[in-house]
Amino acid sequence: MCGIVGITVKEKNKLKDKSLGKTLASLLKMLEYRGYDSVGIAVISDGNIIIRKARGKIDEVSSKVIFSEIDGLTGIGHTRWATHGPPSDENAHPHTDCKGTLALVHNGIIKNFYIIKKDLQKKGHSFKSETDTEVMAHLIEDKLYKSNSKVFLETLKEALDEIEGSYAFAIIYKNEPNRIYFAKKLSPLIIGVGKDVNLVASDIPAVLSYTNHIIPLRDGEYGWITPNEIVIKYGDEIVDFTSRIKTIDWNVENVSKAGYPHFMLKEIYEQPLSLRETFFGLQSDPNIERITERLVDSEKIYITGAGTSFHAGLVFRYFLSKLGGRSSFPFISSEYSQVSEEIGEKDILVAISQSGETIDTLTAVRSFKINGSGIVSISNVLESAIPRESNYAIYMRAGPEIGVAATKTYLTQVLTLTYIAIQYAHIAGRLTDSEYRDHLNILSKASEITESSIRISEPLVKMYAKDLKSSKSMYILGRGLGSILALEAALKVKEIDYIHAEAYPAGESKHGPIALVEPGFPVFFIFTLNHRKELIGNIKEMRSREGIIYVSTPTADMIRENTLDSRILNIASYHSEILEPYAHIPAYQLLSYYISVENGHDPDKPRNLAKTVTVE
Ligand code: M6R
Repeated sequence: MCGIVGITVKEKNKLKDKSLGKTLASLLKMLEYRGYDSVGIAVISDGNIIIRKARGKIDEVSSKVIFSEIDGLTGIGHTRWATHGPPSDENAHPHTDCKGTLALVHNGIIKNFYIIKKDLQKKGHSFKSETDTEVMAHLIEDKLYKSNSKVFLETLKEALDEIEGSYAFAIIYKNEPNRIYFAKKLSPLIIGVGKDVNLVASDIPAVLSYTNHIIPLRDGEYGWITPNEIVIKYGDEIVDFTSRIKTIDWNVENVSKAGYPHFMLKEIYEQPLSLRETFFGLQSDPNIERITERLVDSEKIYITGAGTSFHAGLVFRYFLSKLGGRSSFPFISSEYSQVSEEIGEKDILVAISQSGETIDTLTAVRSFKINGSGIVSISNVLESAIPRESNYAIYMRAGPEIGVAATKTYLTQVLTLTYIAIQYAHIAGRLTDSEYRDHLNILSKASEITESSIRISEPLVKMYAKDLKSSKSMYILGRGLGSILALEAALKVKEIDYIHAEAYPAGESKHGPIALVEPGFPVFFIFTLNHRKELIGNIKEMRSREGIIYVSTPTADMIRENTLDSRILNIASYHSEILEPYAHIPAYQLLSYYISVENGHDPDKPRNLAKTVTVE
């Protein structure tokens, strides 16, 4: 998984930074969330291709190899998350052919690279890296020089026909100094359409400082851009893309840190706004009624997603059952084969993915489609792969999320899915018109509950983070909806703080996990409206083993009256179960954030993780 970018400008004064090298580094910064173990750029300068690259994050590499001293009008860049070949200077992109006539960057995996590599080596090509990507540079070179008459685009197509797997490529060629060639299959790629400047990139944030007009490319498309021209082909046909140009209402301000020390904190704080916009968007989405009717008419409802998106799916299952009286079947997307045999045409899959590009979820969607199931997707990224392959797509309006940890996309997913569950209950006749309006009115408070939970919990969380920063392990427990929210709280602590945090239904303690509790072991309780008596029993049970108890609750007095010396994590008051995610979850997002900061980690870029997982 990687981020790629390319920019070509008519004149130097079109660049927003003082050199092309510096420009590419700034554009790559917007994609750093996609990978950050090595970085590199290639530009065409005075008829030559110059490549600079190294292992490390963008800022380190940028000053080490001095990107800023490289100038030109056309260049490409790459930020890497290693899959084939460990992070190293040699394995960093761009890669080039034997003679250095072209340079390319790639996001994806070339599955048959080894066979192609062996064949090219026999023909005398010499490789410098262990990557799958480098074969593409040599493959094009090989084909290009077999026949002098061939134009580059035809050669590119021939090479693409030979490789298997997934790719987004950006390629520069010495003989055509103002062009960037591109190709896309399964990995995301967009074109940024400007005036006297055009760009290609893995994601929208990278082009926003130049344009807010974009063309999301489709699988199988390839072509080239110059500062004033765009050519897209599919097979042998030229694609008419004029009606596909979209205007994006995000701006550079949206995607920069806006004064916060980290994107994660900024995104936690953006949640009230994102929730409001998502709620308004749902109210004006003409698809919702059709989708709900389709769900009501379906035989079975399956729900899928990975990580946080799966956790949002479990909240959907909960409310679909509680409000709509309807059973559904959630599964983690990479485990689709456990259920795909039983799918029929009357079934429907609700696929949840903030990026819309997670390969596990995309594969589950494809497998369900083959078996005839209808697909409803919930995503935050317009025109990404999963919504494009769905029968119905609902977009959250969370805005771009740069921090690797899902925060605002989780709560907006939960809000979107709860909204659908309420619609379902109404159409299915489980809620009267007035109950339906009441439920929507309650859900419309999600934004203010989130805002007040952030405000109320933050000072306490900062204090508790100091106590917890050296913990090796903790439990986060709840009952009913609380046990589902606990899963997301624990994932945040694991991925950002590198602390083993385990979530399970509190009633399970006595069946095994309580054996681990010894003096000082931290145990969190998500104290929900339902099951209070049982939860108090569970708190006492843990306290008697001398665990240190933390309780997220708006009703501190009740806890203090009933249990001894629990540490209270105050959150916003609420009177309906529908609002519990927005009251409890921000406190745990902040907790994971502040533990990470206390330990000197970078919460935006947790180790071993990338924002969007486009490899199986
Ligand atoms: O883009 P997706 O929602 O499909 O991503 C799925 C997971 O990789 C993702 O939710 C991951 O678990 C979060 N980044 C964790 O915070």
